[in-house]
Parts: sequence; structure tokens; C-alpha cells
Amino acid sequence: MDNRNNTIAGWALFAGIVALGATIVTGEYFSGKDAEACEDEGGYCPSYVAEATAGGGEAEEEMPVSFYLATADATRGENVFKKCTACHTIAPGGANGIGPALYGVMGNPIAGHAGFAYSDALKGIGGTWTWEEMDAWLARPARYAPGTKMSFAGLGDPQERADLLLYLNQNDGSPLAVPPPPPPVSEEEAAAEDAAAEGDAQLAEDSPELEAGVGEVAEGPDGGLNVPEKQ
Ligand code: HEC
Repeated sequence: MDNRNNTIAGWALFAGIVALGATIVTGEYFSGKDAEACEDEGGYCPSYVAEATAGGGEAEEEMPVSFYLATADATRGENVFKKCTACHTIAPGGANGIGPALYGVMGNPIAGHAGFAYSDALKGIGGTWTWEEMDAWLARPARYAPGTKMSFAGLGDPQERADLLLYLNQNDGSPLAVPPPPPPVSEEEAAAEDAAAEGDAQLAEDSPELEAGVGEVAEGPDGGLNVPEKQ
């Protein structure tokens, strides 16, 4: 091949890389954009933007663990548990490893497995592993028990945690009862909460229908909530 052909091939390759880079960048730009930013710009807000924001809410917008348990799946949880097997066993009579053996952990005293040298941080918590405690621990171990020696960042997705909790509970000689889901939040309450959360108390004041008629849940044609348009 002469020099000229090499140059042409080189440019073709370069163009391909640039095109790929551009695709990645635009993809990140759109997925990273949230509904609020979208509204602030006063632009077109495709529905998937709002959905992504609603689904990937921050910690304070999360529902209680019982909400996610209602749709949890232990088979998915078994898959999530692969993130734990480097340090933990789950089989009955399993050995302690880097972390304590986890068979039967749900309902057991926190830091209570025989023969494991727990950190003072975890020993200091007290109580037993309820659904709520385990959910909070696995969300961010270092926040739940600052100074813990479990070096695991945590699971940010509440549904993933619920799946895992159900799996842990199934690997237990005396499993806990699964709690009933919380009562559904009515549209008015949800809208009022949203408004307050945004520091947008004015919206609730100006819209008496948001406060009246608590209990009537209006659903949109797609089964979603019919949140009134912001003025
Ligand atoms: C890098 C190793 C490591 C990984 C990965 C890890 N853990 Fe741990 N885990 C530990 C250690 C170490 C402790 C003891 C913590 C302490 O004493 O502060 C622990 C403690 C625990 C406890 C408390 C048990 C008891 O008897 O009170 C639970 C529950 C637990 N881990 C669950 C999990 C789950 C579920 C995962 C996967 C999502 C996981 N861990 C991932 C190392 C790990």
C-alpha cells in the first residue's frame, strides 16, 4: 500500500471515531437531563425525561421498603447477591469469610453471628435486622454504621435492595413476614408534597383542588398520575 492509501484509511478511521464519540456525548447529554431542568428552560420536555426523573429519584423521594417489597423478586435478588459472594456465604451452616456468614441473618441481632469479629461501629448499633434496618444498611453501609469494616459502597436502587432482602429472607430458617405495602398516596397528597419539596408552596395555595378531595385518586389514561399542569 502506498502512502496515499494509508492516509485515506487513516482519515476514514478517524471519522469513525469522531462519529462514535459524538453519539456517546449526545446520549449522555439527553439521559442526564432531568424534567426540572427541562421545565426551567421552558423547552420541549419529552415524556421519557419526566419518567427517568420520577424513577431515579433521590433518597428523600424514596418510598418505604415495603413498597418495593410488593414487587420484589428473590430470583433477581439472588443475582444481586453475586456482588456479596466475595465476602459472604449464604448457604446453611456456611463459614464466615471476610464478612460474617449470612444464612438466617434477617431477624437476627445486628452483629450477632457467632465467631465473627465485628467492628465496634456495627456492634454499637443494637437491635435486630428488620426490613427497614437491613434496607438502610445496604443502601450505604458507611452512613448506617460509620467506621464499619464492610468495604462496600452500597446499593442505590431501592428495588434492587428489596429484591436482595427478599432473597436473604428466603435463606433463613425463620424468615420474617413480608410487610404489606403502604397505602397508595393520593394524587393530591403527592402533588402537595412535590410542591412543598420544590419550595413551591405557592402552587398548593393557589390551587385549592390540590388540597380538597384527598382520597380521590385520578389516574391518567396510561395509569400514571394526572398531575395538574404548572401555571
Ligand atoms: C468487601 C467485602 C464485603 C462485601 C463485598 C460485602 N460485605 Fe457485608 N460485610 C463485610 C464485613 C467485613 C462485615 C462486618 C462489618 C463490621 O463488622 O463492621 C459485613 C457485614 C454484613 C452484614 C451484617 C451481618 C450481621 O451479622 O450483622 C450484612 C447483613 C451484610 N454484610 C450483607 C452484605 C450484602 C447483602 C452484600 C452484597 C450486597 C455485602 N454484605 C457485601 C464484608 C463485605
